[in-house]
Amino acid sequence: MNYDLETIIAADAAQIPLYAKRDIALVRGEGSYLFDSTGKRYLDAMSNYGVASLGHAHPAFTAALTDQLGKLTTAHQSFYNDARSMFLEEIARIAPKGVGRSFLSNSGTEAIEAALKFARTATGRSGIVAAKRGYHGRTLGALAATAEKKYREPFEGILGQAVTHVGFNDLEALEAAVSAETAAIMLEPVQGEGGIHLADLEWLQRARDLADTFGAILIFDEVQSGFRTGAPFYSAANGVVPDILVTAKAIANGLPVGVTLVTDAISDGVPGGAHGSTFGGNSLIARGGAETLRIMREDDLYANAAGVGAYVMAKIEALESNRIRAVRGTGLMFGIELKMKAGPMLKALQDRGVLALMAGTLVLRFLPPMIWTEQQADELVAALADVLNG
Ligand SMILES: Cc1ncc(COP(=O)(O)O)c(C=O)c1O
Repeated sequence: MNYDLETIIAADAAQIPLYAKRDIALVRGEGSYLFDSTGKRYLDAMSNYGVASLGHAHPAFTAALTDQLGKLTTAHQSFYNDARSMFLEEIARIAPKGVGRSFLSNSGTEAIEAALKFARTATGRSGIVAAKRGYHGRTLGALAATAEKKYREPFEGILGQAVTHVGFNDLEALEAAVSAETAAIMLEPVQGEGGIHLADLEWLQRARDLADTFGAILIFDEVQSGFRTGAPFYSAANGVVPDILVTAKAIANGLPVGVTLVTDAISDGVPGGAHGSTFGGNSLIARGGAETLRIMREDDLYANAAGVGAYVMAKIEALESNRIRAVRGTGLMFGIELKMKAGPMLKALQDRGVLALMAGTLVLRFLPPMIWTEQQADELVAALADVLNG
């Protein structure tokens, strides 16, 4: 296949224009680097919205998938399957104690939908308490819990969930919002789309206590924060365990996977046939997920994310730029809040050969592959020094 940029753009025009485009076509990757259709190389500081956790064309991952492709691509959940069982065994190694039953789907938003349905079946209630600035996805249930008006307003009438949004880290607002009508409290322990904000552990623990007091289900959305903050899950690593833990993105190195982990009690209360997915847990994707988790575990990419993350954040904090308002994050999930719009900086970084993301209008967001070393961190810092002081 040898498409030039013009051909690629012309064919892409057949899509509904939902995304602001970035004017380059990514055609190849190698480790922590991506290449466009002209052969230009970029440092990958975003892993395509936090998914390519092992970087690109990882040899062991590629070999496992190639092997699986030659055996079996799909096996519906009504059959047992060896690749799916391998994936489930790897998930069991990282699931917080007591939250080990899973539903496998194909995206973060689907994993959230499942969580909302399971919270309803467990409680018989429908009220949701979520956080301002929170992001949970674009399907209707997940969208109801997402805070940003621009995503919600066009669909307000059909969302069908009673959702109260409370200030992030606001203890009093959380206490006031949770009641005997609450089916679920759903929070991101580290907000991603909202601008890289870490929850106070006291606030997460209060959510745990309130859920217990009122018989509500505590859902932590670790779709974005999963795997890259120095541990499989930020919440459990910090001592707060939910009733439902939702993850996706980095778990399968770019393959579409959502995982909704629940307690035995919630699982036992879900009526058979109450939920399902044709593609969820299929053998190809499950093999990819199993291999990703195996590599993360054996290469201790969790410790690597913590170490390289601390290293790069310290270097960014040391940058002398009057354009920086704050540096926030943990592990390889970090952001720079600017005193100016982030869009032009994102473009300048891209031109300089670094691909990053934004969160809102003011924050430059970084979700690099978990295989980053200090060399890639230094390359990012050098590029930031240029564009922020340029
Ligand atoms: C915290 C969080 N939840 C849910 C989602 C939705 O995931 P997906 O885009 O895979 O549907 C995202 C996506 O960015 C997310 O960051």
